[in-house]
Amino acid sequence: MRIAVIGTGHVGLVTCATLANYGHEVRGTDADTAKINLLEQGRTPFREPGLEELVERELSEGRLSFSTDLDSVMADAEVAFICVGTPPKADGEANLLAVESSGRDVARHATRDIVVVEKSTVPVGTAGWLQRTLSRERRDLRFQVVSNPEFLREGKAVQDALEPDRILIGADSPEAFETMRGVYRPWTDKGSLLIETDIATAELAKHACNAFLALKISYINAIAQVAEQSNADVVAIADVMGADPRIGRAFLNAGLGYGGSCFPKDLVAFDRLAAKLGVELPLLREIAHINEQAVEATVHKVREALWNLDDKRIALLGLAFKPETDDVRFSPAIALARVLLSNGAVVVGYDPWAGENAKAELPGLELASDPYAAATSAHCLILCTEWDEFRTIDLDRLRDVMAYPLVVDGRNLFDPTDMRRAGFTYYPTGRPAVVPDPADSMPVPGA
Ligand code: UGA
Repeated sequence: MRIAVIGTGHVGLVTCATLANYGHEVRGTDADTAKINLLEQGRTPFREPGLEELVERELSEGRLSFSTDLDSVMADAEVAFICVGTPPKADGEANLLAVESSGRDVARHATRDIVVVEKSTVPVGTAGWLQRTLSRERRDLRFQVVSNPEFLREGKAVQDALEPDRILIGADSPEAFETMRGVYRPWTDKGSLLIETDIATAELAKHACNAFLALKISYINAIAQVAEQSNADVVAIADVMGADPRIGRAFLNAGLGYGGSCFPKDLVAFDRLAAKLGVELPLLREIAHINEQAVEATVHKVREALWNLDDKRIALLGLAFKPETDDVRFSPAIALARVLLSNGAVVVGYDPWAGENAKAELPGLELASDPYAAATSAHCLILCTEWDEFRTIDLDRLRDVMAYPLVVDGRNLFDPTDMRRAGFTYYPTGRPAVVPDPADSMPVPGA
């Protein structure tokens, strides 16, 4: 099928590459000319495992192309995917201007009746507006709007898009369903689950999924707080909970909380949407509140360990909002660094991929070229992102370069027994601390 993709951000580009991988003829476009120039050379504007290789291959095999010329992108397209950003407005409501203007572009440049797919995460009701926009713009063509939310995770986006848990299609006509079944036939032929609903259900289901995942994280972070006060171990608690198939172990890792371009923004947007619909959902605000507390609790631990923060050197391992990405949007590591810097600490960060992006967001941050350089002369080290390379770190070497052997583990990556053996004072999240030096365990009133 001939498919146009409007917007080549994370979702759009993965959509382009995976549709082409399954044999469709895909043309991608973006308002950002520099991005399109880069993509035409087979290079991706952000790091996502496996994506650049796939884009390069599909470009060279001729199934994928990129252009800023909407006439050529839309020529003969049977389906157009709208994958543009829906950033938060000042009050958190989703800004849908890019969706509207993409709709206008699609209508103006379409050459035949077309199915228009809403892939961006949008509030329920957006499809109705999109339908009106398309029809008002062009009376001579028939547009059918479909909701087809994306469930891919950054860092695993290609794998998630090639082999999804489920494909969700919300439509309101048999023809639209038929067209979308055609788009996804290569997937369903391989056994992917296809769920068909009405449009509003599909739109709302996306928000429901993301809010529930965020809820799991905040729930275990709330339990972590209680565990810390009662000398219990939140990791073991998560294992116990996870052994119940009704609960499941995934997304029960306590730590610095969630970040990224989805959960923080989607939760607020969902809350605003519910309020607009006259439904009170204080649960959503509580999830976000617990998430903020996760960073605050870590700052508190550092304060308890170091007393004054002024001029203390603090090393951060990991700056991306999660491993396998260079994305620092709403990264808890950045939020943490911001508080530490504003309290006068010297903050030195290391991340395998996200260093430059972090520095652009937070110019006061110093960057180091490896974990040991970051830790050199540090009074405290905070593990912020659980990159695999940190799992095999040489703990003895790390301890030797630090000014004080203090580690706060914001992702429970290290094994407390290893930390004890290496002589660290170790503060994990929601687990008993390891405090070998009696001076460190002396109670300090009000600390
Ligand atoms: C999330 C969803 O997982 C995807 O299904 C969805 O498609 C996507 O949002 C989206 O709406 O586009 P993503 O933001 O890429 O994907 O990342 P996740 O893997 O969900 O992680 C989000 C955050 O939660 C990260 O900061 C991660 O460190 C944190 N997290 C995750 C925890 O703190 N604990 C956990 O147990 C799991």
